[in-house]
Amino acid sequence: METFQGVKLWKADCESTMEHTENQVYKMVVQLTRPRKILQLCSLSTDSMDMLYDYLPEDGCLVTSEFEKFSYECPAKERKLQKRKGTKEEILKELAALGEQYDMVFIDATEENPINYYNLIMSGNMLRMNGVICVQNASTSSQEGIDDETGFMSKEMTDVIKADARVEQVKLPSGCGIFIGRRIPLPQTSPPLKGIVEDDVFRGFGGLGILDRLRLDGKVAYVTGGGQGIGRAFGHALGEAGAKVTIVDMDLQKAEAVAHELHMKGINSVAMAADISKEEDVKRVVDAIVANWGRIDIACNNAGINMNSASEDTTLEEWDKTFNVNLRGLFICCQAAGRVMLSQGYGKIINTASMASLIVPHPQKQLAYNTSKAGVVKLTQTLGTEWIDRGVRVNCISPGIVDTPLIHSEALKPLVKRWLADIPAGCLAQVTDLQAAVVYLASEASDYMTGHNLVIDGGQSLW
Ligand SMILES: NC(=O)c1ccc[n+]([C@@H]2O[C@H](COP(=O)([O-])OP(=O)(O)OC[C@H]3O[C@@H](n4cnc5c(N)ncnc54)[C@H](O)[C@@H]3O)[C@@H](O)[C@H]2O)c1
Repeated sequence: METFQGVKLWKADCESTMEHTENQVYKMVVQLTRPRKILQLCSLSTDSMDMLYDYLPEDGCLVTSEFEKFSYECPAKERKLQKRKGTKEEILKELAALGEQYDMVFIDATEENPINYYNLIMSGNMLRMNGVICVQNASTSSQEGIDDETGFMSKEMTDVIKADARVEQVKLPSGCGIFIGRRIPLPQTSPPLKGIVEDDVFRGFGGLGILDRLRLDGKVAYVTGGGQGIGRAFGHALGEAGAKVTIVDMDLQKAEAVAHELHMKGINSVAMAADISKEEDVKRVVDAIVANWGRIDIACNNAGINMNSASEDTTLEEWDKTFNVNLRGLFICCQAAGRVMLSQGYGKIINTASMASLIVPHPQKQLAYNTSKAGVVKLTQTLGTEWIDRGVRVNCISPGIVDTPLIHSEALKPLVKRWLADIPAGCLAQVTDLQAAVVYLASEASDYMTGHNLVIDGGQSLW
């Protein structure tokens, strides 16, 4: 009896260890590939299912057959579940006809005709590039502790997968065996494939697909006014894309808080206090970045202030204060970073201008601000054309009205309703609406662009 119980216990332990290992493997794959769409054509353990649901983003979905057993009481999980009618073969054909693609696909080698499923998935282009196919019960030889009736992947299926150059593959001997295949671009072939134009469009410029060309890995960036609002969002975006980021702000505490946020996301970041209207402060920042990280690839000159007054009442003090930061300070930054970039032979300067460079936003009165931002555009155009033949691109972003502390002043806050009527998009911009633009302008993908004023205003300047 004891022995019997001993065996039972050993079996139970063994099974749970196998399940645990399988779950850990899937968890790692999910963490690395971050799937949004999963096609599940075999049963998975409850732990694996829970893990998949937890990792799927809010708009993610898990597609499966109506015959798979689930009972989820959690509506958040059920929302991500899409059950399809029909046999697995019918489901695959239907999804392929719809052009559906998946980041992760699960099949089982012990199903009746797994090769058929594998071929339908691959020929139907249902595994997206870099997507992963997981085949359960993929062992090809008997292993200790596994009943033969469990079934294993046939030699025929092993051969089909092994010969498939579209997937990079690994087979893990854990449990009943898991095969993992990642869809990769076709390898270089010699002679070239018939009917294929082997150029940068087909292979990607420098061998990189367009999303990889937006990456900023290893680049060195700074953002002025990075302690809050648009600058903070720019800092996060550049860091997420791979850059090291120095957050520069007059307010050191705010800069440090943002640098800390970036660190928590695994981004190398430093905070520095500086008033960009002061030449010595800017020099100190630029020297420190070069001393820290050896170069400056991306200069995001974003700090700016907004003051309001009727033009007949605008004081020279308001005018000078606005220009000292928005235009003179921005020029000091462009020149200091530009000198470093010119000596490197490469760099990207991204200035923050404003929609106010194009139109006269109303009803607020802000002559000095509007004029300073028009100056930012002209400065950008001039430097952009003067420096491009030495590798330095200068562009600017002109946001419409963005929901940041800048527009929460007593003078501007009451005007939001009025502005909304002037914005075709019907809402203010969020700082996140500007993030892709700064990454694009910072990346090598935009190297042919210079002196450009990229307007992101929900259509407001067109009305
Ligand atoms: N918010 C908008 O609606 C809007 C629209 C178009 C353009 N912009 C421009 O975008 C930029 C950022 O605006 P925001 O809305 O994030 O502003 P914000 O006021 O929320 O943040 C600006 C940041 O810059 C810092 N700063 C101000 N002066 C500085 C100086 N001299 N040196 C260093 N740091 C300084 C501030 O401490 C603050 O952290 C500004 O150039 C602004 O003119 C804003």
